[in-house]
Amino acid sequence: MKYALLSDIHGNVEAFQAVLGNLEREKVDQVFFLGDIVGYGANPEECIKLLEGLTTWVVAGNHDWASVGLTDYSNFNPVAKTAIEWTKRKLSVPYQHYLTHLPLLLTCHNLTFVHASPYHPEEWNYVFSLSEASFNFCCYEQQISFIGHSHTPVSFMQSERGTTHLLQKSTFPIEESSRYLINVGSVGQPRDGDPRAAYAIYDLDESRVTIKRIAYDIEGAQKKIIEAGLPHFLALRLAAGA
Ligand SMILES: [Fe+2]
Repeated sequence: MKYALLSDIHGNVEAFQAVLGNLEREKVDQVFFLGDIVGYGANPEECIKLLEGLTTWVVAGNHDWASVGLTDYSNFNPVAKTAIEWTKRKLSVPYQHYLTHLPLLLTCHNLTFVHASPYHPEEWNYVFSLSEASFNFCCYEQQISFIGHSHTPVSFMQSERGTTHLLQKSTFPIEESSRYLINVGSVGQPRDGDPRAAYAIYDLDESRVTIKRIAYDIEGAQKKIIEAGLPHFLALRLAAGA
């Protein structure tokens, strides 16, 4: 059994389609989505449509909720704010309805799915450091929590003794006696210096998580952002992966 964990598509249908092609090759059994379908990219409705056909395991991201007035975005940076206002104008009623009804957190057996952090998901806090990860391990009961939000794949492990470690490799075993907090990176706007789309595969038979990187048509996505009248910076950052 193979699970795919995707996050932060952000209206980038070119990146999403490239990942979908890879999911087929990987013969993934179930897809889980960790939030931010829309915001930044030029194809919010197309991305929602594809995601709806793929899975019902979807949690809300801050951009999803901001686009339908469910979370305050007054503290977003000017570019993100412009993108939210553009997205709000683009979304027709059925898509607004879809985003409005997304939950903040889901669990399935020993797994938790949340966009930002297990601690108060509605506060959209980031988990970057060992101390932030260590604190968050206390905020869920399941063995593994998959998260997104920072657009940077990074994984933490809590040993049986309660010590938190940073996992440096892009593939690592899931040990029965340990717990994990895994940020799967971003499909549609990676920010770790690698512009390729990121997502994770959890292979349950092999007890292993792997962060995958998938090349996609960045120029196509950039062209659409510029043609849509969205800030040019949003196109530029895709090529930089930053
Ligand atoms: Fe995001």
